[in-house]
Amino acid sequence: MILQWHEEFSVGVPELDKHHRHLIEILNALVTAVNEGNNLKIIAGLMTDLNEYTVYHFNAEEALFIKVQYPHVTQHIQEHQEFIDRLSRIDQLLQRDQHVAAAELEEMLISWIMNHILTSDRMYMSYLSH
Ligand SMILES: [Fe+2]
Repeated sequence: MILQWHEEFSVGVPELDKHHRHLIEILNALVTAVNEGNNLKIIAGLMTDLNEYTVYHFNAEEALFIKVQYPHVTQHIQEHQEFIDRLSRIDQLLQRDQHVAAAELEEMLISWIMNHILTSDRMYMSYLSH
């Protein structure tokens, strides 16, 4: 377990907290699988799970922004796009160098939690409670 979901990551919406928890779980499993040198089939399966769940989660967040007319929606969607782009770069990297890909995944897991959930996601909290 690289990183565990913590109460302070909460964005105040149980459904979105559940999504974040699940994304952290998949990322943890992926970093562990790559570090342990598991076979590429397992890793590719987890990577597919991560890609699909990320899109599902970002769509849920973005639908909510439109509903509450969240003013920082453009910047937030841009961060989502950057995350998706980074995922696809890691996907390609996995085919070439698993060690570098594992390090990238680990870095992404931590920086995404710190920069995205703890700052950008928590910024929408006050708008949703209105
Ligand atoms: Fe977000």
